[in-house]
Amino acid sequence: MAKQFDVLVIGGGPGGYVAAIRAAQLGFSTACAESNPYADPKGEPRLGGTCLNVGCIPSKALLHTSHLFEEAGHSFEEQGISVGTPKIDVTKMIARKSKIVEQLTGGIKGLFKKNKVTFLAGHGSFVGQADGGWQVKVGEEVITAKQVIVATGSSARHLPGIPVDNKLVCDNIGALDIDAVPKRLGLIGSGVIGLEMGSVWSRLGSQVTILEAMDSFLGAADQDLAKEALKLFTKQGLDIKLSVKVGAVTVGKKSVTVEYETKDGAQKAEFDRLIVSVGRVPNTAGLNAEAVGLKIDGRGFIEVDDHCKTSLPGVWAVGDVVRGPMLAHKAMEEGVMVAELMAGQAGHCNFDTIPWVIYTSPEIAWVGKTEQALKAEGVEYRVGKIPFMANGRALGAGTPQGFVKMIADAKTDRILGVHIIGSNASELIGEAVVTMEFAGASEDLARICHAHPTLSEVVHEAALAVDKRPLHF
Ligand code: FAD
Ligand code: NAI
Repeated sequence: MAKQFDVLVIGGGPGGYVAAIRAAQLGFSTACAESNPYADPKGEPRLGGTCLNVGCIPSKALLHTSHLFEEAGHSFEEQGISVGTPKIDVTKMIARKSKIVEQLTGGIKGLFKKNKVTFLAGHGSFVGQADGGWQVKVGEEVITAKQVIVATGSSARHLPGIPVDNKLVCDNIGALDIDAVPKRLGLIGSGVIGLEMGSVWSRLGSQVTILEAMDSFLGAADQDLAKEALKLFTKQGLDIKLSVKVGAVTVGKKSVTVEYETKDGAQKAEFDRLIVSVGRVPNTAGLNAEAVGLKIDGRGFIEVDDHCKTSLPGVWAVGDVVRGPMLAHKAMEEGVMVAELMAGQAGHCNFDTIPWVIYTSPEIAWVGKTEQALKAEGVEYRVGKIPFMANGRALGAGTPQGFVKMIADAKTDRILGVHIIGSNASELIGEAVVTMEFAGASEDLARICHAHPTLSEVVHEAALAVDKRPLHF
């Protein structure tokens, strides 16, 4: 007899594993199916999806190591610390990263046991409707579930004519396992991966060139912030070329030649490694979606409403495989929402307060609307902007770069957007998210006591600056 569950989750990434844990906590008998792209040494699929295996976590581990390397090489001296010229052991750096991945992905298996989620190793695909639910084939087995959550995530988008072998030409998977510092590293795409991976290898000594198709840099970010970021990254040695049309890519034995066009005409560059980071595509192939009538939009995303309900009764979809930002915390938030809605609770996901973070140095983080978007919408707003240069903690830490920019509605004072470029922006943005989640005003933040000396005082000052009364700038 087919195994039966209340809930079957297809995909064990942040959207899927969190949905499964929450569903089990709410009393549903729950299983989570994961296919096998990231097998452990025993051949079992690792849980955690893109995020834990080949995304958020490994990239942040490499960013951390390369940051320390750069600090040791450049910032220690000015603080009176001599350590000589630092050397990087790339094999050790990669092994440390892989150990962290191992620990965390294994940890999810532990969480499944603790929460009584059944882990099913195998590719999931719809068979059809069953009595009051769905039949899904997982590996060779057919499972019956009353409700199904599709959380199959995304994969790197590749470009025609650029063969990714994850050796000389890498997507995110190979980019996280490069075994030696490439002398010349090329990246196609100056989005989040381009900037984070470009930063890692630039800090470790690569000469980094980023080829970006658009004529604006970080188009989705507040352009004030993007302008500052471009200035700082260029100063750090990242050669970011905009308005580039990539042409022929020739892969040699040890290098890759890229022909491209800029406003200045035809160019050619040779790289020791090339990373293709031009966005990601949702994973829906192999779900047998068409046969069961699961609607997929023109860009390949599963169609869902604001509650992540699909076109099929009892079938939900969350994370990268549906519309919205491709971020781990957004996927998790949707996973929790769906589990709670299934249990009859008021599941909730506020898509207006999902923060973005780019883990460069300085970090970039934002939540809410950009100034250019508000202008386009004709909204009247006030801006408070304070540089980290005016903050004692930032100066003490040697990180005076960047600013906090707060935008509030001119009439209601409700915060509409907060944009940070600066040290620890990833942590500082949390305060803005909480305030905005509770529909707070800049005056609310201005009246909250912030510890001194902390970087959070810059957020406080930006709130005061909205009302033109900063105290330290
Ligand atoms: P995924 O994590 O992609 O997981 C989907 C899982 O489903 C995969 O394990 C896949 O094997 C499995 N699967 C697919 N099809 C099937 C099937 N038919 N049957 C069974 N299993 C299946 N986001 C952040 O928020 N912060 C970051 O710092 C960050 N850094 C990133 C760095 C990189 C280099 C990359 C590539 C991404 C990064 N992201 C980051 C994005 C983040 O990884 C994704 O948004 C997140 O993993 C999406 O979660 P998900 O569960 O929707 O999908
Ligand atoms: P991206 O969408 O962030 O950036 C892709 C860039 O490539 C864009 O600037 C685009 O204009 C450019 N591009 C597209 N086609 C091109 C072409 N043919 N030639 C040159 N440039 C081209 O995508 P990326 O960097 O691949 O990352 C994928 C996603 O993964 C991100 O959007 C994000 O959702 C997630 N991610 C999140 C991180 C974080 O939260 N810190 C870190 C890394 C990834």
